[in-house]
Amino acid sequence: MCGIAGCFSEKGCYEKLLRTLRRLEYRGYDSAGIALLRKNRPRGGYGFSVRKKRGYVSALDGTRLSGSTGIGHTRWATHGAPSDVNAHPHVAGKFALVHNGIVENYAALREELTAAGETFVSETDSEVIVRLVSRCYKGDFFAAVRDACARLEGSYAVAVLCTDFPGEIVCARKKSPLVAAAGKNALYVCSDVPALAGEAEFFCPAGDGEFIRIAGGKIFLCDGDGKEIERPFVRLAAQSALPEKGEGSFMEKEIAEIPQALADTLKSLRRTDFAPCARPLRGAKRLFAVACGTAYHAALALRDMVEEEVKIPVLCHTASEFRYRGPLIGEGDVLVAISQSGETADTLEAARGAKERGAYVVAVTNAAHSSLAALADFSLLLHAGPEIAVAATKSYVCQLLCAWYLAAQTLFFKQTRLPAWFGELDRLPEAARAALGCDVSALAEQFSGARGMYFLGRGQDVVTAMEGALKVKEIAYIFAEGYAAGELKHGTLALVEEGFPVAAACTVRALAPKTCNALAEVKARGGVTVLLSQYRDLAAAADVFVALPPLPEPLMPAVAVIPLQKFACDMCRRRGYDPDKPRNLAKSVTVE
Ligand code: G6P
Repeated sequence: MCGIAGCFSEKGCYEKLLRTLRRLEYRGYDSAGIALLRKNRPRGGYGFSVRKKRGYVSALDGTRLSGSTGIGHTRWATHGAPSDVNAHPHVAGKFALVHNGIVENYAALREELTAAGETFVSETDSEVIVRLVSRCYKGDFFAAVRDACARLEGSYAVAVLCTDFPGEIVCARKKSPLVAAAGKNALYVCSDVPALAGEAEFFCPAGDGEFIRIAGGKIFLCDGDGKEIERPFVRLAAQSALPEKGEGSFMEKEIAEIPQALADTLKSLRRTDFAPCARPLRGAKRLFAVACGTAYHAALALRDMVEEEVKIPVLCHTASEFRYRGPLIGEGDVLVAISQSGETADTLEAARGAKERGAYVVAVTNAAHSSLAALADFSLLLHAGPEIAVAATKSYVCQLLCAWYLAAQTLFFKQTRLPAWFGELDRLPEAARAALGCDVSALAEQFSGARGMYFLGRGQDVVTAMEGALKVKEIAYIFAEGYAAGELKHGTLALVEEGFPVAAACTVRALAPKTCNALAEVKARGGVTVLLSQYRDLAAAADVFVALPPLPEPLMPAVAVIPLQKFACDMCRRRGYDPDKPRNLAKSVTVE
């Protein structure tokens, strides 16, 4: 999704912006641009140097633009196709602007501004903001941005330049993330903390509805009335740095990092003080869980574990739906919001809504300084390390671990006992390492030309099936469905014909006969079957058997998904795609 950056630096401003934009690339984007304030010679005064292009940040390389104050952007198209014209920054009169978010009332504003004489050059909602700022301007740059923002509905993080104020950047945020930062001889604003690694030394996230100003060689946060906010900047940890890709893709690298990510997450969980959430968890008669994409599957796994162990219901919702259902949540309820990035707009809004209704919010996130962590009453942190590939892999397995740990704590707070598997969590990293050894390359070769696939499971394995299908869709671009095996006969089976691939996960002994029956029904119709299980005696139930490393049954989803992640990645490669950059998708979905 769109990333924004701003920089004030007497030396190398353009290069600093370029480097920051490169580190925002992982969010997913389709065009990029930079604008710098430039001295007009010989007339005096200032103008803009703008370079913006459809395609990668590398398209902005070339002769550097001079100037010490600039803004930059990576765009993920929402309003208007990816093109040079629609790329940010957008310029109107004395102002240049970059924007992340969606202006929901942009059509009405565009009409109003057009009637007032503005001529729009792009199809973006963002151009409305810069034209609005220009119209609001009466000599006070900061006031113009505040007045313009007051008219916007939706979400935004913006960074604005004004030719009357060289050396100044005014930024505003509502819902979309924005961070202020300072480095040696340079000041920054940026959409996320990792993109500042190596550049800045200290940072401070802006709160919702707050502003960031760079002026007079200083950076400060302000409230809606323009009053300065005292908030300390914190040191940027060295581990915030984005990793190098090395050989292969980030996705392959991140799958290989699962054992370490699990070990680190477990270590951190063991040190986490759960006391603050003891009361809400002990008192909760039910839990709510919200998330999007892969994280939603982790939310389903939380539901499975809590219902099994704690025997209280967990109402699980995709975050985008939760908000609009008028959810029956209130005081005494606990909502668990799961998000790798902690910036997914739908998840944030769902959590905000729950909090407004009086619920206690627990965040499960990989980003300690994210908006979700800031909003939550309590945060459980994954220590998966930076995840760059769009398709989530190591973060998912760590989310499972956190979800189960939370289930165990809930049981403890309610019944002062821990689940039987709790002491076995230490075995997870080693088992994950063994699962990495599962060879699925022959399978990928066999199915890389398939037009569609099913993934089946029962009980806890349904979630694994859903996640396997999502991975195949996301990066191999093959239609895939993850399904409860019992539903096969209620429609799904109609599509099974000669050669149609159906993979099932079966990690619960008691459910094995039923899952194997489903595979038999597929086989009888000519389908090709694959079974993943730790129970080798089930091998004959499918055409291909993938042996999983054994663990206590409730923990098996953490290893069963790994061969499916590898399978999707392998299929993607064989079909000639880049696993790190799936078409149309973004890592950090900061708009609803
Ligand atoms: C995007 C990503 C998915 C991810 C989902 C939720 O759709 O492509 O991989 O699962 O967002 O992201 P989050 O950061 O909230 O876990």
